[in-house]
Amino acid sequence: MPAQSDPSQTDSECYPALIVPAIGTWPRFDSPLRLGVMASGTGTNFEALHDAIACGDLDAQIRVLVVNNPGCGASERARRLGIRCELRDHRRFASREAMDQELARTFKNEDIEAVVMAGWMRIVTPVLIDAFPGRLINIHPSLLPSFKGMDAIGQCLKSGVTIAGCTVHEVLKDVDAGPILAQASVPIFCDDDRERLTRRIQTQEHRLLPWATAIAGQRWRSARETQG
Ligand code: GAR
Repeated sequence: MPAQSDPSQTDSECYPALIVPAIGTWPRFDSPLRLGVMASGTGTNFEALHDAIACGDLDAQIRVLVVNNPGCGASERARRLGIRCELRDHRRFASREAMDQELARTFKNEDIEAVVMAGWMRIVTPVLIDAFPGRLINIHPSLLPSFKGMDAIGQCLKSGVTIAGCTVHEVLKDVDAGPILAQASVPIFCDDDRERLTRRIQTQEHRLLPWATAIAGQRWRSARETQG
C-alpha cells in the first residue's frame, strides 16, 4: 500500500520524473524523419509529437495520421493542426490482416520510413510489423514488462505497486513485448484514483514519446547508412 501522499497536493503532475535514457541533446538528421502516426482515441500523444516537431526538438515530419474511429479526438486535432488524417475503420475490414495490409499500403504510398502507434488500441499483425521491420513503435501506459495488454493503469492500481510509468517499445508479434526504447516512471500516491494516475502518466508520455522517437530515429538512419 503506497504510504507517501502527494507532496504537492495541488498539482500532482508537477515533480521530477525519472526518464531513461534521460532527455538530452535532440539528434538532427540529414532530412527530417518521415513519420506515419496511428491513433484510436483522444490523440494527446499525437499532438505531443506534433508539438515536439513544431518547437524544433524532434527532427521529423508527420506525413499522415491514421485513425480507426470516425470522429475521434485525434482526427479533430489533426484537422486543427493541418495534418492529413485518413480513416481506416477496422469494422469495415474482413480480418486484422486485411486492415493491416491497407495500413501498410497507406504508409508506403506516403513514403513513410517509420510508424508511431500513439494510442492505437488494436492488436497489429505481422502484415504491418513486417512491412516496417524495427520501424513500428508503440507507447504503452505501464513500466513493461509489467501490466501488458488492456487497462494497464487499472491493472497497476489493483496490484498495489508504488511506482507506475510508461514505455515506448518496438512492436513485435507478441503484444507489448518488443525491445524497450525508453521508459518514464511516476509515483503512485495513497490518495490516487485512476483519473489522477492516468493524468500523471500521460504528462510523462507526452515527454517520452517524442524523445523515444528521436532515439529510434538515430537507429533507423544509421541502419540506412550501414546498408548503403
Ligand atoms: C495513452 O495513455 C497510451 O499509452 C495508451 O492509450 C492512451 C492514448 O491516449 N495506449 C495503450 O493503452 C496501448 N496499449 P491519447 O489518445 O490521448 O494519446
